Amino acid sequence: MNSSAEEISIIKTVLEYCESGTTQLEPEVMLNPVKHYTDPDQLKLEIDTLFRNFPIIVGQVSQLTEAGQYFTHDDTGVPILVTRNRTNEVKAFVNVCRHRGARVVTAPCGKANTVSCPYHGWTYDLDGNLRGMRQPAGFGALDKSTHGLVELPAFEQFGLIWVQPRPSVEKIDIQSWLAPMAEQLSSLNLESHTVFRGWSLHRDMNWHIALEGFLETYHFCSAHKDTACSTYLDNQSPFLNKYPHVRNPVPLTRITNLKDQNPESWDYRPNFMTQNYIFPCNFVQVMTDHVYIHTIIPTGPDTCIFKCLMLIPEPALTEKAQKYWDANYGVVKTVFDQDFEIGEGIQKGFAASVNSNFTFGRFEAGLQLAQKAMNDALEGRLTVPYLP
Ligand code: FES
Ligand SMILES: [Fe+2]
Repeated sequence: MNSSAEEISIIKTVLEYCESGTTQLEPEVMLNPVKHYTDPDQLKLEIDTLFRNFPIIVGQVSQLTEAGQYFTHDDTGVPILVTRNRTNEVKAFVNVCRHRGARVVTAPCGKANTVSCPYHGWTYDLDGNLRGMRQPAGFGALDKSTHGLVELPAFEQFGLIWVQPRPSVEKIDIQSWLAPMAEQLSSLNLESHTVFRGWSLHRDMNWHIALEGFLETYHFCSAHKDTACSTYLDNQSPFLNKYPHVRNPVPLTRITNLKDQNPESWDYRPNFMTQNYIFPCNFVQVMTDHVYIHTIIPTGPDTCIFKCLMLIPEPALTEKAQKYWDANYGVVKTVFDQDFEIGEGIQKGFAASVNSNFTFGRFEAGLQLAQKAMNDALEGRLTVPYLP
């Protein structure tokens, strides 16, 4: 039994909901203006704030196990190069040459001591330093030390790689930022997991619509009638406010078996799927035996990228293991596709302008909490903490 005190209390709460036929309710219904989903100026502000000033998950450590490995990431709109340098630190840079702006690394991933810009061959090491240029005499006294790749804040935390897509002179205190989620995230041992599959979907919907599919469970027994509905309790999941993040444990129907067992023997993980929203656009979705990492990033007012990594506890070396994880992938793909089809329908419906607000119900707490935190960031009340 490895459940934390918080998890035991979650189980108690859910068993009480089952007993009384209730669920967690926010004090009020919340109205969210539809212009949050449609207004290009709103999106500009969101990109400039939410997608530049906060850490985004760009990968998992098994993608950078050795010094000299690197990968690129372009979904935020900033071309990013992520490396593991010779001293084993994860580093990130804007993947733009300091000569005349070409994309330096064009491959999705690789391993090297240095990388060379394809345009005129300026060469950088994996700490971003400009190491050499062809025919340097043509550049006079150019100071190489001020022409390195521009560094971005990058962190390795809980087995995941996080990058803030804007340079910062101040040092982000990533540990305080993630502290409200730390106990749970560290218990998952994601650093020893491996990527079974990673995929990116470009979908025709505002990014909020895709995000909101993971912030409530009210839709499970209508949108996922033939899939998730039978596995989970119907709309009886608590939302723990881990401001600005949210932990949403979604109980499996089998949890009712625990009511006759001694709480000391209660095991959280086999009885829940946990949707963890990590501000502003990251999810760590914990299944009973594997984990999905999602990031949802806008590419326009009516388009977004949904990027997913399926993490499994150990490499799938046998055919049986491959089949098992493939079957799991098949299920989530079906469920996500059901969400995205509805989401793209919502997007099309904006043209009719019949709603000026969307209504977030009292049990759609994840929607309320996440939107309030976003409003805080957009209106200057929420920033990442910095080290002194
Ligand atoms: S733009 Fe990179 S070397 Fe010229
Ligand atoms: Fe869904």
